[in-house]
Amino acid sequence: MTTERDLIVREMQLVDVDMRIDYFHNASDDYLRTLGVDRALLPAREAWHVFYEEDYARPVRERVNYSLVWELDGRAVGFSSADHIVFGKQAFMHLHVLSPTQRRDGLGADFVKASAPIFFQTLELEHLFCEPNAFNVAPNRTLQRAGFRYLFTHETSPGPMNFPQVTTRWVLDRPA
Ligand SMILES: CC(C)(COP(=O)(O)OP(=O)(O)OC[C@H]1O[C@@H](n2cnc3c(N)ncnc32)[C@H](O)[C@@H]1OP(=O)(O)O)[C@@H](O)C(=O)NCCC(=O)NCCS
Repeated sequence: MTTERDLIVREMQLVDVDMRIDYFHNASDDYLRTLGVDRALLPAREAWHVFYEEDYARPVRERVNYSLVWELDGRAVGFSSADHIVFGKQAFMHLHVLSPTQRRDGLGADFVKASAPIFFQTLELEHLFCEPNAFNVAPNRTLQRAGFRYLFTHETSPGPMNFPQVTTRWVLDRPA
């Protein structure tokens, strides 16, 4: 278990966004496929950065993307980003532990549990969704462990970087 570890979840700042850009651009094709991401659909690094500069200039309630950094013992080890945001209602989150050596050690579930209240509060959500590729076992197991409820499986292109695929939709409702 990870309860003894010093986990911090904080808002991703503009200076941090290259972490996410590099994560996708430096990934292998096999890894991207596991995530359901098509390399050809990744924005170019500079264009992606400009997208973030524009997005960070907006008030939170108008943001296209809202991301959190996951820190372990003072070092960034992962991130969670939310998109398809309908402020005051719902958003879709994503979850990533950067290093393969730090996965499957309980961090993801703990960070998701710590991130959800921040998404709920900041984006004033009623529902927090996550919709990983159905064949990507790690996020599906992690969401269940973090208390998300399975809704359904369907075929879709979940976002602009994704190829058509089978996904599973999970939800966490705002605590009463
Ligand atoms: C998804 C991810 C954030 C989960 O974090 P993690 O630290 O690896 O997950 P945890 O160690 O907290 O594991 C949570 C549960 O998932 C299970 N799990 C994690 N990785 C698994 C794997 N590769 N295969 C099978 N089960 C796995 C764990 O056994 C645990 O199950 P339990 O509830 O039965 O104990 C991390 O694996 C990751 O970054 N993967 C690559 C990126 C990715 O696929 N992101 C999803 C995009 S939506």
